[in-house]
Amino acid sequence: MFDDKSWYKEAVFYELYVRAYKDGNNDGQGDLRGVIQKLDYLQELGIDCIWLLPIFPSPLKDDGYDINDYYGILPDYGSLEDFRDLVSGVHAREMRIILDLVINHTSIQHPWFQKARLDRNSPYRNYYVWSDSNTKYAKARIIFIDSEKSNWTWDEVAKQYYWHRFYSSQPDLNYDNPEVRAEILKIMQYWLDIGVDGFRVDAVPYLFEREDTNCENLPETHAFLKEMRRFIEKNYPGRILLCEANQLPRDIRGYFGDGDEFQMAFHFPLMPRLFMALKQGSFQPIEEVLEKTLPIPEGCQWCIFLRNHDELTLEMVSVEEREWMWHHYAPESRMRLNLGIRRRLAPLLDNNQQKIELAYSLLFTLPGSPVLYYGDEIGLGDNIWLDDRDGLRTPMQWEPVAGAGFSEIQPGKFFNPILDNLDYRPERLCVSIQIKDENSLLNRVRRMIKVRKKHPELGSGDFRWVSSDNPSVAAYWRTFGDHKMLVVQNLSALATAAHLSIGETIPIVAEDLIWGKSIFFQNDQIVDLDLTPFQYFWFEIPFHLN
Ligand code: BGC
Repeated sequence: MFDDKSWYKEAVFYELYVRAYKDGNNDGQGDLRGVIQKLDYLQELGIDCIWLLPIFPSPLKDDGYDINDYYGILPDYGSLEDFRDLVSGVHAREMRIILDLVINHTSIQHPWFQKARLDRNSPYRNYYVWSDSNTKYAKARIIFIDSEKSNWTWDEVAKQYYWHRFYSSQPDLNYDNPEVRAEILKIMQYWLDIGVDGFRVDAVPYLFEREDTNCENLPETHAFLKEMRRFIEKNYPGRILLCEANQLPRDIRGYFGDGDEFQMAFHFPLMPRLFMALKQGSFQPIEEVLEKTLPIPEGCQWCIFLRNHDELTLEMVSVEEREWMWHHYAPESRMRLNLGIRRRLAPLLDNNQQKIELAYSLLFTLPGSPVLYYGDEIGLGDNIWLDDRDGLRTPMQWEPVAGAGFSEIQPGKFFNPILDNLDYRPERLCVSIQIKDENSLLNRVRRMIKVRKKHPELGSGDFRWVSSDNPSVAAYWRTFGDHKMLVVQNLSALATAAHLSIGETIPIVAEDLIWGKSIFFQNDQIVDLDLTPFQYFWFEIPFHLN
């Protein structure tokens, strides 16, 4: 797999927040040395590609998504040498690593912005978007609605307003300026030369602004993103660009271009529908969104996910759907943030292991490459009382001790408190306990990943629903060449019977790859199967019978 240019199509991704992962120098903050110590763990879990949240120098007003210097490493995280060691350690284990590339904005403290605001004649002035009034681009929505009232902020030093789609401490770069565009390619080159395997490109819809538009997904933005891709193809073939565009299905589809823009994009519309399906006990929300998902060009792949480091976004669902999601998944006001829900996977799914496993079964068998969020493989909890999204970014729990094996320093000095809720505290929930228990969530996730890696139909195969008269039963075929798998899942909290018309004409015995259960497909093409609450099966159809 290592030389395969389409590696990302069958890869399992892992989103890793360095500050929270492992403290290598016992100062209470996770760092790159800490991550290096945990590479064996990631390899054993079956991870193919690590995505690091931003690691660059930053005043951390937005946890590193506000960059001061695109060419350095945040001192808390270590040095460039540490980073090079990390890249070698990752590659030595035949894994890959991608970085978060934040191109829409910098920190207000970036020297470009500091020079820009001080001197109207500085070449850097034109690196940002300025105006004498705050009325331009009025059709652009505000994204961080809980903290920002406008996309314009007055700068007392510059004596003008500057444009920002996120926090006012994150001024947007001016993509109409060719020098800005050249800077981005230079930054990419720098990290690609160090050996990274690509980028998760942050907040891509907002690069350009045009009057009388919502300033999202503009043709000019696509043109520049295509230029980034050409740069990669020409100089670094095999490296990837992963698109973060929280948009409607047809707009996200645009970021694949004709196969000449991003190779990958997050499937934002699918994610909330997975939670709707699990709560309703019906596959309909998934079916509907997959119907709206347009085919993507050859060589492209969706990235699918359950949770990530941000609030569970409900920006792109209807008002009624959002209210429904809030009602069911965020009954307390502290659980809500902007237009979303700040909770992790396990608490969202009632800390019910069978249900969480089912969510993973969907993640690993629906079309796309799965992305796991650190900690969710053990069912880490959250802390809704922390600020902003900090409650989703608490220390990883390795050992059943007060400091969770995250750091040796006293926990009071940790960057974020360890969870102290009875169900989620490290004494009860951590890697070392789960590794020893063959029925733990961690071991089930490992098992699913292992099976997935042996079955290219799950990464690259076709997807076809199996007709079922029971809405609780999500059943589908995944097929690729000689490989064929029948996935059957009960989305309901009640036991149910599946009565599936599988469209096969020959009787076959198929084995479930997770549990080892065998099933006999009848000549009449109907499968009858009893399913316990949230039960899932992945049936392998033997080669010779395809
Ligand atoms: C990231 C957020 C960040 C924002 C601004 C997002 O899309 O995922 O964590 O706050 O971009 O950079």
